[in-house]
Amino acid sequence: MKMSLNLVLMGLAVLSFGCQENHFKEDVIMAGGRYVKSDTLNYGKSIYTEYCMACHGVNGDGAGVAAKGLAVPPRNFKLGLIKFGNVVSGELTHDDAIAKSLHQGLKGSAMLPWDLSENQADAVIQYIKTFAPKTWIGKEKELGEKIQITKDPFGLARKTLAIEKGKAVYHAVANCQSCHRGYVTLNEYNKILSDAGEDKLDELDEDFYKIKLQDSDHGYATMPPDFTWHEVRSGDSVEELYLRLAAGVGGTGMPAWKDTIEDDEIWAAAYYVRSLMDLKDSPGRKEFMSRFK
Ligand code: HEC
Ligand code: HEC
Repeated sequence: MKMSLNLVLMGLAVLSFGCQENHFKEDVIMAGGRYVKSDTLNYGKSIYTEYCMACHGVNGDGAGVAAKGLAVPPRNFKLGLIKFGNVVSGELTHDDAIAKSLHQGLKGSAMLPWDLSENQADAVIQYIKTFAPKTWIGKEKELGEKIQITKDPFGLARKTLAIEKGKAVYHAVANCQSCHRGYVTLNEYNKILSDAGEDKLDELDEDFYKIKLQDSDHGYATMPPDFTWHEVRSGDSVEELYLRLAAGVGGTGMPAWKDTIEDDEIWAAAYYVRSLMDLKDSPGRKEFMSRFK
């Protein structure tokens, strides 16, 4: 798979060599008031043609020659949607979040980390925005407010407490398992419910342990990950998980939890998700999961 993709990419690089006409003649003002020179856009286009087009397509529609059969489709830039922004999802994100996805890649997808300089990354980011001019171009367009990573109220010393609280936030406060799967037995769930002053259950929903595929604005159903099995795309530290939970995932069912649940609940859920991710590839996973059959 890797081999054939490399061949396709090499082939495209060769094909595109020598036929890069300058396309942009005018400077533009991007959302957030950033003035972008036509030179920058043309430079971004040349980088895009060389490295990105194979997957993201000539027209930025995500249907490049190497996109076929990918479990997670390349982003269709024409929709103007960014999943992993640093603003409440639905608002326009800042460039540094997009640059982070370029430099770090999106784990568990074909989007690899790209070894681009800051200038190159910036130019290609401005260029891909031109595929969705109605979203990104215009000086009156505003970017969302950047989400600040607040001070971690737990810290390593109180990690166990954070995870316990996070388990309750996940299953009883935010009901994350309404899309993702649940990770507690009926007894554990009833303990969480009674601690929260809620009624106990006689049995769990039949899809409590199932992943529920979600419609999205991207044109395909998105899959809420099982944290003990799938990769989390946008970063796996507790801080990165905090940001993702606060921001949500743009254009998908994954909501922004900022101002929906308490800030310390977001931190606790981040610790809890991280603890589930620790089970991935660990010998303890089998035993942990076997309790849910
Ligand atoms: C091998 C295929 C492939 C190549 C080549 C590729 N990408 Fe991607 N890219 C993807 C996939 C797949 C996704 C979607 C991941 C997801 O939805 O989680 C993606 C997503 C993205 C996103 C969306 C991030 C977000 O938060 O929504 C951006 C921006 C992006 N790619 C830019 C680029 C740029 C710039 C290049 C070239 C330097 C590039 N990609 C090359 C496959 C590729
Ligand atoms: C309404 C459905 C829904 C609910 C409720 C929901 N999620 Fe999600 N979640 C999703 C979907 C869909 C995705 C996958 C988005 C994608 O990558 O395309 C996702 C992705 C994620 C990711 C991965 C982000 C990444 O970078 O790949 C994390 C972490 C996450 N959810 C945690 C949570 C937590 C914790 C809760 C509860 C506080 C929660 N989710 C509630 C639908 C939901």
